[in-house]
Amino acid sequence: MSITARFYANTPDGKEVTLFTLENSKGMKAEIINYGGTIVSLYVPDKDGKLADVTLGYDNLKGYLEDDGTYFGALIGRHANRIEKAEFELNGVVYKLAKNDGENNLHGGIKGFDKQVWDAEIIDWEGKEGLQLTYFSKDGEENFPGNLKVKVVYVLSEDNGLEIHYYAVSDKDTVVNLTNHAYFNLSGHAAGSISGHELMINADQFTPINNEGIPTGEIRDVKGTPMDFTKLSPIGPGFDSDDEQIINGKGYDHNWVLKVSGKEPEKAAELYDPASGRVMEVFTTKPGIQFYSGNFLKGSGVGKGGAVYNKRSALCLETQYFPNAMKHKHFPSPILKAGQEYKHTTIYKFSAR
Ligand code: BGC
Repeated sequence: MSITARFYANTPDGKEVTLFTLENSKGMKAEIINYGGTIVSLYVPDKDGKLADVTLGYDNLKGYLEDDGTYFGALIGRHANRIEKAEFELNGVVYKLAKNDGENNLHGGIKGFDKQVWDAEIIDWEGKEGLQLTYFSKDGEENFPGNLKVKVVYVLSEDNGLEIHYYAVSDKDTVVNLTNHAYFNLSGHAAGSISGHELMINADQFTPINNEGIPTGEIRDVKGTPMDFTKLSPIGPGFDSDDEQIINGKGYDHNWVLKVSGKEPEKAAELYDPASGRVMEVFTTKPGIQFYSGNFLKGSGVGKGGAVYNKRSALCLETQYFPNAMKHKHFPSPILKAGQEYKHTTIYKFSAR
């Protein structure tokens, strides 16, 4: 595995953004910029060994700066997904956040971690090279409490795993829920609809949402619903079902309750594209996963190589604490106590068959 770095662009306020290329001996390649810690491309072999870039994105920084809420490939924080009415209570204090999704807070607010330039360094990671990104989120940034030191390490393994190791520590009690928002189309980023992809999610339950995408607090069995991905199943049929949950999400946009221990990365999901034979397995230590089927992609903006990304031309599998967990105390808690370490790993592992 090797990592190389080159100049990418300057932000309008003069900060330098670098593009890092992570490559292994199997030909797999990930390109990541330190603006938002964004995965800008991910080249993965198909069943004949042919490489394709399987993540959506833009050709230049301008694209990412002007992005209208897709969060293509970015690191999300301080709190991924939605917080109802954009407020939460912690230690008797109510913290009011930005309402950047109707009445609610989404993906950390107006200027979340996806819009920050992270410090970057190529480090030794257990004998391999790793890309370490660090960001210091000040007490009160986006109204979250506590000075938070965040570290994310990307490693590309020889078995085609893109590992994402997340760490954070705060000087006050706070909430932390970090994820990556890559959009995948295993036929290639410009290949069009993902309705032929097949998905398995290692979960018997999911968290139903209201019509604003907010978990209601209920934990419901997937059995007998379009949410049943206990076995590898095509995702297309569920899109157009008249199930109340699909209507509320305008497609799939839900959190599944993973059957993982949280102690070490365990298999959370598998995505398979029969057309290319590419397989992506997701391993994680986090308790939940958001399967979002690209319902709000509008074909606006120009993607990589002039690609137009229409509705459902890619999907996200975002590992996370359940959205809105501060309101529902029976959900695993996203509270990070002062001085304690937030530590999670997610691996997107690729193969073909
Ligand atoms: C959310 C979607 C949202 C998308 C892009 C996903 O994590 O669940 O509702 O549209 O991110 O912002």
